[in-house]
Amino acid sequence: MLDGKKVLLIVSGGIAAYKSPDLVRRLRKQGAAVRCVMTESAKQFVTPLALGAVSEDKVYDNLFSLTDEHEMGHIQLSRDADVLLVAPATANIMAKMAHGEADNLATTVLLATDKPVLAAPAMNVRMWEHQATQANIATLTARGIAMIGPDEGDMACGEYGMGRMVEPEDIVIALQRFFGSAQPLAGKHALVTSGPTYEPIDPVRYIANRSSGKQGHAIAEALAGLGATTTLVSGPTQLPDPAGVNVVNVESAAQMLAACTAALPADIAVCAAAVCDWRADDQASEKLKKSPGDTPPPLQLTENPDILATLSAAGETRPDLVIGFAAETENVIDNAKAKLARKRCDWIIANDVSPETGTFAGDTNTVHLITQQGSEDWPAMSKTRVGAQLAQRIADTLVPEKEAADGAK
Ligand code: CTP
Repeated sequence: MLDGKKVLLIVSGGIAAYKSPDLVRRLRKQGAAVRCVMTESAKQFVTPLALGAVSEDKVYDNLFSLTDEHEMGHIQLSRDADVLLVAPATANIMAKMAHGEADNLATTVLLATDKPVLAAPAMNVRMWEHQATQANIATLTARGIAMIGPDEGDMACGEYGMGRMVEPEDIVIALQRFFGSAQPLAGKHALVTSGPTYEPIDPVRYIANRSSGKQGHAIAEALAGLGATTTLVSGPTQLPDPAGVNVVNVESAAQMLAACTAALPADIAVCAAAVCDWRADDQASEKLKKSPGDTPPPLQLTENPDILATLSAAGETRPDLVIGFAAETENVIDNAKAKLARKRCDWIIANDVSPETGTFAGDTNTVHLITQQGSEDWPAMSKTRVGAQLAQRIADTLVPEKEAADGAK
């Protein structure tokens, strides 16, 4: 999908720069030509020799190199590219970009370019959360620079949080989306549910679950990337709204069902939300109080409506393809097959959510695609990648090849 595209990769000095050769390799595998520019501090983490070897091109690092300026001025470097990709983009280089500084070859190229710029931020969580960084990101985004991530996770500094660079394979997906000439799902409406639901007990307490919403959000973003008009009905999550998606925020299962029904008609429905199966029978209008010696109040539960089953049985407004998830901790495939039949959906994505798999809050997922024809085991991959692969499969199923090719023209 990146055939013949020319990427100018700007590597700035963060620990994630050690992943740059892998990124170059993956971009080239997709058919892109990659030329690298590095900052002095990037050389602390990755050598020009390594980037030169994998890109099979000269690596540029010196603003004042007479030969480089003679042969390939800093203006020409960006003129020759289709896109500039800053990865990793440190807090420092983004601050310089936001303020128009041009104190080395990388920042000068970025100031001199009229080409689209994408940046994959990478930094410590506190640097990411700092008001200065957030203000710089807001400035850059307002100028049309697209941010790829960052991700949440363990950091090289031992902390945990937002700021980890998106994995190279997912940066490649972001670039494919950027160039996405193929929009096979253009004209289709996709409805996706994501995240947990909160079921109130009283004004301050609720029943919930550990779903992060990462998988559902990734699917919504991937469907939008293939051109679908996408409605994401999301329970409470910590995630930013995915690019190009209409987000409807809800809390309870009842609200999620109402939002989904209101969003119909849709061609595709993917129910990735971890909807609470039960809600409190009676919702106290005042906070429940305890007195010493009291027995705890009984908690009576009522079953929630099943959104997936409701969409699967929506009669004339039933989406052409209804896809559910099966979060299982044992007999994954068999339970998922039973769920497919019970809920009358078309496909089920089954995943093992036993605590030891780390699926619930984690960034990776190992899934099985269950259809009426049988089951397919997908290898462990990032949730972004699962989203991209599922969206592509949906497109291949719903849109005949000829139509997809016409859409790409
Ligand atoms: N689902 C839904 N509405 C519900 C419950 C589940 O739409 N009230 C959807 C989920 O979004 C998912 C699928 O149904 O796509 C399966 O959910 P899961 O919780 O794994 O299965 P359950 O039907 O709840 O069965 P069990 O808890 O027995 O595994």
